[in-house]
Order: sequence, then structure tokens, then C-alpha cells
Amino acid sequence: MIAAQSLSVKTASSATTYSTKAEQLKTRFEAAGQGHVFTYFDSLSATEQEAFLEQLETLNVERVNRICTKATTCPSPMLNNQAAILDPLPEECFDSTLDASPEKIEEWRSVGLDEIARNKVGVILLAGGQGTRLGSSAPKGCYNIELPSRKTLFQIQAERIRKLQSLAQQRPGAVDKVIIPWYVMTSGPTRTATISYFQGNNFFGLESENVIFFEQGTLPCLTFDGKIMLESKGKVAVAPDGNGGVYAALRGSGVLADMAERKVEFLHAYCVDNCLVRVADPVFIGYCVSKNADCGAKVARKVSHDEPVGVICLRNSAFNVVEYSEITPEVAMAINPKNGQLAFGAGNIANHFYTLEFLNRAEAFEHELEYHIARKKIKTLDLQTGEIVTPKQVNGMKLEAFVFDVFPFTQRMAVFEIDRRDEFSPLKNAPGTRVDDPETSRRDILLQHVRFIQAAGGNIIVGKDDEQLGGAPTLELSPMVTYYGEGLEEIVRGKSIQTPVSIASLEALKKAVF
Ligand code: UD1
Repeated sequence: MIAAQSLSVKTASSATTYSTKAEQLKTRFEAAGQGHVFTYFDSLSATEQEAFLEQLETLNVERVNRICTKATTCPSPMLNNQAAILDPLPEECFDSTLDASPEKIEEWRSVGLDEIARNKVGVILLAGGQGTRLGSSAPKGCYNIELPSRKTLFQIQAERIRKLQSLAQQRPGAVDKVIIPWYVMTSGPTRTATISYFQGNNFFGLESENVIFFEQGTLPCLTFDGKIMLESKGKVAVAPDGNGGVYAALRGSGVLADMAERKVEFLHAYCVDNCLVRVADPVFIGYCVSKNADCGAKVARKVSHDEPVGVICLRNSAFNVVEYSEITPEVAMAINPKNGQLAFGAGNIANHFYTLEFLNRAEAFEHELEYHIARKKIKTLDLQTGEIVTPKQVNGMKLEAFVFDVFPFTQRMAVFEIDRRDEFSPLKNAPGTRVDDPETSRRDILLQHVRFIQAAGGNIIVGKDDEQLGGAPTLELSPMVTYYGEGLEEIVRGKSIQTPVSIASLEALKKAVF
């Protein structure tokens, strides 16, 4: 009896709080011009209402309006080109592995490996995007590019980290146990599948406590006049907030604190879809550290003035990425008289360096970051009829921050040009498209391994039964064999190896050569 009485009191008081919460939120959303989200509220069950209120509470509706206004009145800094003055990168912040001497590259590598050996380096993986263009609903990192080993992008990247840890462990003065923590950013659509994929594969030999998952934020989908769209009567339609959401997510999820606790100072961030990515690349880390940069970007030299890639340059005196669609042909074709190359030729490959200090500082300028509009077909509730509609035409917008939009806020930027044959081959498109698809990824990895063996003085004999798909001899070296081609010479010099072959370890390589 006493229990029942106290229960009824409790129920009454929580009902009061609950209806107050509903009223408060309703008032707040109405004041923000978004009161329509409550259209079907009264028709929802108590549980549905509660879940809906919980979602609405997490939306900062005034911030959503601010972001929308900013994005729609000045959709992207790029679209404001008339007023923008573009300048090529200043020479002092740019270096190229294509022009640097082997000694210089070794010097940078040495600096980078030493930082890794002191446990000062961590890695951020941007893996919140969906492989829509690839035609796969699984996270892109789970994609099998049909290498002989059938390794997926996640496995290749994990093994590169393992190999690098062991290379750094051999440096004089290395800590007892070299660890490169791997911070994996997922989003609502990729989180569960990514985590269970890693768990199901025993983290590909990495220690689970050093693979840290964190989730990027979301933003509501909006109609073209800025109204929040509903996915159902009791749910707002949301979408990941773009790879530029990484900065807020790092902070909000406690990752920055984890980095500080581990005494990590330098971070390498990259996109999941580049099969050639040199994860935690010591040369790049060493270069940026030597330049005392707070932010760095790898670029690939544009193959022609009209290649469709964004370029890193100065925009109104600040570092920025200008998309190919937003640069005039005259500017795109301009030649640097000093070297005869394109003046705006630094193609962005979304591969960055940051100091932890810079990532911490991002909070101060986050509200100034631009949001970009992606016009999409968004499944939504028709407010008139209460029916859910799957549109045939674009009907709304998703707002996204881009990871490079922090560049204008750097104090010391360093831009590093790499050889794209060795470092850039993104997986963007469905099989058979012939451009940045699974076949080109596979081909580019195999061709690199052929070059590794040849550069180490080995001879390749293409076997009769090697199909040479995509024109590449089938020769695969596990990342556990070599990271950048190192360590092969003493095994392969003056010897031959026959394809097709997939080598999993140095021991296996020793057995395969003759
Ligand atoms: C990106 C770059 C582009 C570069 C190209 C190189 C951006 C905004 N653009 O373009 O300048 O030339 O890569 O390959 O970076 N992602 C998230 N969360 C999201 C959206 C994306 O984590 O909400 C991740 C993806 O998983 C992927 C990366 O960001 O790893 C790039 O996303 P994607 O949409 O493939 O960018 P692109 O348009 O190809």
C-alpha cells in the first residue's frame, strides 16, 4: 500500500515534468520557426512522445537555424568567388617528395619514426561516410577490393599500423612498447557495422584498447526554406554532419582528452577510401614536425589543369581548398614561371596532419566554420497527409562541414606533395566504372608491390597462369612484409619471384624467391 501510494505520487510528478518538457520544447521550436515538428505529436503514444522529446532536446534548434542561414546565404566560401582573391601557395610552406633528395626524405622519415617511437603520434580515420557511389551499404572500410589475400581496406590499414609500430620499436631510444592509437570516426549509419567488423576480426592483430571508436554528430535534414524535415510523426530526419564534424566529435566524445592522457602530440588524419594511404606516414609527420606546422596537408600534383580535384591555395590570404568547379579556366591554367608547373596544381587528397594543440584550439573557431549544402532525395513525412513519401526528385538539403575548412585558421600550414602512384588511389565508384573503382584500387596496390620488388633489385617472372587483371602482375606483399618498400633488398636482390603470388610474411618471401 505504501509502495503503491509512493508510486502514484512519483508517476504524477514525472507526468508533470514531462508535460512541462513538452511545453517548453514546443515554445522553443515555435519561437525558432520550427513548431511544425509537433504537428502529429498528440497522435503519438506516450513512449513515442517521450522518445521524440528526447531527440528534440538534443537538437540545438537555434544553432540549426544559424547554420542553415549561413549556408544558404553564402552556401560556400567558394561560391563567393567574385570577391575572392586566389593566390598560389607560398613557397615556404610547400615541399615535394618528387623534388626532394633521397637524403632529405630519409631525414624527414627519421624525425617521424622517432616521434612514433616516443608514442607521440596518433591516427584519426574518417569513416563516417557511406559508400553510396560504390553501391555498397556496408562501411567502405569493409570493402574487399579482390586482392589475392582478400584483405579489406580496414585490414590493410590496421596492418600498416602494426608494421609501423614494429619499425619504430627498433629505433634507438624507443619506449618499451610503441603504440599508435587509432581513433576511428563513425557515424550513425556506419557505427554498429564498423565496430562489429573489428570485433569479429580480432582488431586485425591490434590491441582493442588502442582502437578507439567515436561518433560524429548529425544535423537535421532541411527543406529548401530551412524547415526541419520529419522522418516519421515522432522522429526528425537527420544525417551525419560531414567529415568536418570530426573536430566537435573529437572533443565531445572525450578523444582529445584520451590523446592528452596518452601524451600524443601529433595526429595523422585520412579518408578510409584511399587504398594506398600511408597510415601515420613517418615522412609526412617528420616533415610537418620539422616545419613546426600546426596543420599539414598532403597533395598530389594535378595531372592537367582540368582534372576534377580541389586545390589547396590561398583565398583572400588564408589557406583554403578551392573546388575545381569554382575556379575559372584562366586561373586553373596559370603557370608558375619559376618551375613551369600549374600555379594552382596542389590537388587535395584529404590527408592531414594536426598538432593536438591545434585540435584543441578548434573549439574557439568552430562557430565560424562553413557548412556546405548537399541537395538530396530525402524520405520524409508529408505534413499535410501524414504519409511517408519517397521522393523521385531532390526535395531537401543535408548540411555538411568539410574537414579542410579549418585551414583558414591555421597559424603554420605545411603542404606536402606526394607521388600519387605510391600514395593516392581512392575507392569511390562501383565496379566496372574504371575510374577510382575496386579494380583500379587492386591494380594500384599490386603495381606498387611490383615496383617495391624491382627497386630492391628483384626480378619478376610473370607466370603463365597469372591473369594480370587490370594489367598488373598478381604480386601482393602484406603490409606486414613492408610498409614503404623497406627491408626487401637483402631478400630479393639478384633473385626472382614468380607471379601470381601473395606474400604474407618475410619468411614467406624468403621461401618464394629463387
Ligand atoms: C574528399 C575530399 C576531397 C578530396 C577527396 C579525395 C572532403 C570534403 N572532400 O572528397 O577534397 O579531393 O576526398 O579522395 O573531404 N566522411 C565522414 N563523415 C561524413 C562524410 C564523409 O567521415 O559525414 C568520410 C568518408 O568516410 C571518407 C571521407 O570522409 O573517408 C571523404 O568523404 P567523401 O564523401 O568520400 O569525400 P569526397 O567527395 O570523395
